[in-house]
Amino acid sequence: MIGKLEEKKKNPEEYHLILTTANQIGEISEFRKLMMKYRCAIREVQTKLEVLNEDFSVRNNRNPIEALSSRIKTPESIVEKLHRNHWPITTKSIHDNLHDVAGVRVICSFVDDIYYIADVLLKQDDIRLIRKKDYIKYPKPNGYRSLHLIIEIPIFLSDKKEYMQVEVQIRTIAMNFWASLEHKIYYKFDGEA
Ligand code: GTP
Ligand code: MG
Repeated sequence: MIGKLEEKKKNPEEYHLILTTANQIGEISEFRKLMMKYRCAIREVQTKLEVLNEDFSVRNNRNPIEALSSRIKTPESIVEKLHRNHWPITTKSIHDNLHDVAGVRVICSFVDDIYYIADVLLKQDDIRLIRKKDYIKYPKPNGYRSLHLIIEIPIFLSDKKEYMQVEVQIRTIAMNFWASLEHKIYYKFDGEA
């Protein structure tokens, strides 16, 4: 779930294997190309969200989005996840098995804004919804709340159009505050929070 790589430090041999493999895979040009495509997909999603935020603020005099951030999964964390799930450690396997290499986090002011943003984003005709997890209606047993969407968005390269997957996490400031704190506490108490 979170920070699996950190846990692997307890097993130095496995941790070393992950780091070495991550180093090797990071050198491969196919891998670099795939990461480039995920970065482009993130930019497309971010622009769409910024446009929605501006459009909403002109009509309603307030911004539904408080903050936007994004991240690309590190090679170490990619290799760790493939390794843990016994999936092949190849570029194709990353593309086919991992849905969260590209991640965008949207922090909204109110819960209604979360559903509004998700709704209008998913209505766009170039976006495909792959999976939705509503941890707001159905919080996790530990109290975690957030709306997760796995979407596919097209990117236009010089020779083709390609759909890339992006994980979008939408939550309020309060939910985000809780999630960040829970994450920190988890490590402080060595996974026993
Ligand atoms: P991953 O393999 O970790 O991506 O989990 P999953 O495929 O079961 O997906 P899920 O939607 O449950 O979680 C995806 C992401 O949401 C995680 O990588 C975290 O960033 C975040 N997340 C999920 N559960 C928790 C939680 O209990 N606490 C915190 N702080 N973050 C969480
Ligand atoms: Mg994840």
